[in-house]
Amino acid sequence: MKINFSNNKIKKQDIKQVEKILKSGWLTHGKNTVNFENEFKKFTGAKFAITVSSCTAGLHLSCLALKLKKGDEVIVPSQTHVATAHAVKLTGATPIFCDIDYLTGLINPEKIKKIISKKTKAIILVHMNGFSCDISKIKKICKRKKIKIIEDCAHGLGTMHRKKHVGNFGISGVFSFYPTKQITTGEGGMLITNNKEFAKKIRSIKAFGIDKDITQRKIPGYYDVKDLGINYRMTDFQAAIGYKQLKRYPKELILRKKNAKYLYSLLKNEKNIKLPQFNDDYSYFIFPIHSNVRNDLMKKLKNKKIGFSIHYAKALHQMTYYKKKSFKMTNAEKYAKTNLSLPIYGELSKKKLNYIYRALK
Ligand SMILES: Cc1ncc(COP(=O)(O)O)c(C=O)c1O
Repeated sequence: MKINFSNNKIKKQDIKQVEKILKSGWLTHGKNTVNFENEFKKFTGAKFAITVSSCTAGLHLSCLALKLKKGDEVIVPSQTHVATAHAVKLTGATPIFCDIDYLTGLINPEKIKKIISKKTKAIILVHMNGFSCDISKIKKICKRKKIKIIEDCAHGLGTMHRKKHVGNFGISGVFSFYPTKQITTGEGGMLITNNKEFAKKIRSIKAFGIDKDITQRKIPGYYDVKDLGINYRMTDFQAAIGYKQLKRYPKELILRKKNAKYLYSLLKNEKNIKLPQFNDDYSYFIFPIHSNVRNDLMKKLKNKKIGFSIHYAKALHQMTYYKKKSFKMTNAEKYAKTNLSLPIYGELSKKKLNYIYRALK
């Protein structure tokens, strides 16, 4: 048996659709982009959804739109993909790392309180592995201090917090469609917001700061530039495959959760494995476990041809670029040493999940 770490989400009919678009010659900002954005609004309940070329691009745009600059501080969890911190750093502002909870990898609200300073302008929350942060609590802290919230939802498609989809709690929520994610466009992302002015700003700066998109121009090529912008657009054929997968995703999400519940029941009493409680509100981008004998487990999985990964093997403050001697974040460092990501997509049969369990056992 062979089990890939993530599944192939592109179907024959998606490829046909892409072929049709490629042949049409209309390759970017077309109707497929509008369809994907509309479907995403429906799925997440957000008022605005804007395609972007990656989640990193969407996070960077959010930081630019908040006018973050040198001298400003932005709190980010120390256990996340480096994109979360880079988005801040690219504006000249400084990411301030915050420790996490060991088992879940989620930023700890009590630790946030301790590192807020007069310079703190924003916080980027990460819904690690598709688990939701304690946003309600964090929102209260931020409201008091007038701190803006950006939600890094790279792992969070389908994740709910108190019956509301993640990404709707701050000024923006940004999703990733990298191939291992719940849906993919190759590279790509989606930014959601419920703030009209913010959405307008993002639409403008994701396309050079131009004031009119292609549908608003009465004469081709006739537009003004009122802002400094960049090109962070997604192509129309990527949007088409994103749309198709999003339509199929509700079914996939149910299966993912079912698989996560089953794997949790198999692994929860294993003495060399620790794992966070199963939660039906979470979307399970991967199935995270912790073990002090991770190297042994990885060897076994490799021998049995079971795909796995680590998210992430070093906390950000341990990376050369962000290293500072003064940082010590016990939980993030422990998490880096022990976490292991197992496959959990809907296609996995009970037989395959049992096979993963036996390999670990
Ligand atoms: C938590 C997190 N944030 C941001 C990103 C960046 O996403 P993208 O590759 O779409 O730029 C990733 C990538 O996997 C991620 O895991």
